[in-house]
Amino acid sequence: AHERSFIMVKPDGVQRGIVGEIIKRFEQRGFKLVALKMVTPTRVLLEQHYDEHQGKKFFEPLLQYIGSGPVVAMVWEGLNVVSVGRKMLGATDPAKSEPGTIRGDFAIVTGRNIAHGSDSDKSAKREIDLWFRADELAVWTNSA
Ligand code: CMP
Repeated sequence: AHERSFIMVKPDGVQRGIVGEIIKRFEQRGFKLVALKMVTPTRVLLEQHYDEHQGKKFFEPLLQYIGSGPVVAMVWEGLNVVSVGRKMLGATDPAKSEPGTIRGDFAIVTGRNIAHGSDSDKSAKREIDLWFRADELAVWTNSA
């Protein structure tokens, strides 16, 4: 379906200069950039964003890390962008990501896996709501 996904370049991706590469790949694939901002996320935002991982042993280190520096938060739009975007990112554990995927080309450990992508249409809506105000989302006309 024609849909939107929340894609975030994590602090490791920003620090390593992989932001442009990730944007390039989504543009090349044919997706439309609907929103983008660089922000250091608050703890409150991250607790909500990673709510499903509360109580897991990696929860605290994850929040510490993602909250440590600026991330690049984006919304991409297009046909099946949620599932295609996840494929482009590769497996969560970069050691298992196929070469050719973003993680498969640029990462090796789960705790530093460069980028996040929504895992379902429902998560995408929830995450976009969390990270962006409605007036921060571009309205594209003449969409194909
Ligand atoms: P992400 O897809 O953003 O969702 C949860 C994140 O937690 C995941 O990417 C990893 O960056 C991080 N993480 C750290 N340790 C683990 C783990 N053992 N299993 C899953 N995710 C982990």
